[in-house]
Amino acid sequence: MNTQPAQAIGVDMGGTSIKFAVVQGAAVVHKGEPLPTAAFASPDEILRATARRIGELRTSFPEVQAVGMGLPGFVDHEAGRVDSLTNVPGWHDIFAVRILEELCGLPVAIDNDANCMAYAEWTYGAGRGMQNVVCLTLGTGVGSGIIVHGRMLRGHLGAAGELGQMSIDYRGRIGHYGNRGAVEDYIGNREIAAEAQLAYAAAGISKPLEKCTPLELEWAAKDGCPVALRQWDDIACKLACTLMNCHYVLNPEAFIIGGGVAKAGELLFAPLRRHLKSQLYPSHYERLRILPAQFSNDAGLIGAANMALHGA
Ligand code: BGC
Repeated sequence: MNTQPAQAIGVDMGGTSIKFAVVQGAAVVHKGEPLPTAAFASPDEILRATARRIGELRTSFPEVQAVGMGLPGFVDHEAGRVDSLTNVPGWHDIFAVRILEELCGLPVAIDNDANCMAYAEWTYGAGRGMQNVVCLTLGTGVGSGIIVHGRMLRGHLGAAGELGQMSIDYRGRIGHYGNRGAVEDYIGNREIAAEAQLAYAAAGISKPLEKCTPLELEWAAKDGCPVALRQWDDIACKLACTLMNCHYVLNPEAFIIGGGVAKAGELLFAPLRRHLKSQLYPSHYERLRILPAQFSNDAGLIGAANMALHGA
């Protein structure tokens, strides 16, 4: 008897590239060649190219049973419909499941990319065995997926868990959807770099933007640069505000944090814990876990594939 978990294809669409993998349980068995998102003029072209890549993968992996795809925006998982994507133009009201199922002849599931990441972390990763978890991914956009009482929280239109759109300043910058003070407009990759450039300038140091990215800031902080260290504290402070609000709404067992910015490790996590400790009811803080994500860049692929297999 074959006791191996079934195989599925995971697709993780971002603003820059569309990634593909054959997934079996928590393992990425094979990675397909990514597609450049901006090379396609419309959602229809993207879905056709995605279906072609899936077809190629299936010639080498004929056992694949389903396809799961994560997309960066408002995705109605139940209806199989993309409502709107935050940073990829042209995606409005697209019935992606119907289109992909017709093109591929396999069962397809779609969800928000951060929901897929959360599903992977909850099922196989840092949130395994927990009933109430909030997972965040910190990159160009800030996204999240929420598990409440052992179920994915999707909300009325499938748009629940958009922590990146939550406000940390009611008079702040106007976000993508008109939402003032959206957290991703302060701690998204680009915004971190822009803020760091200003902070360096205020300290009399002139740096091009490409020397102010989160990765550059990580290296600078590890070299003891006081400007970079202050920037990490500021990023952590803004993230703590988001988590504090979220804690008082959902009271999770753990926040699991991944994405490129979280790769800075303790540079982010140490001040984050300190800021949270000072803002939470003490016994709540003591019983709250702040954990790094386990699956790094593959979380979205693993989560999407498993969601499709499990019908979750
Ligand atoms: C989007 C989210 C997405 C996140 C990460 C944000 O801009 O609004 O839906 O999960 O980016 O890609």
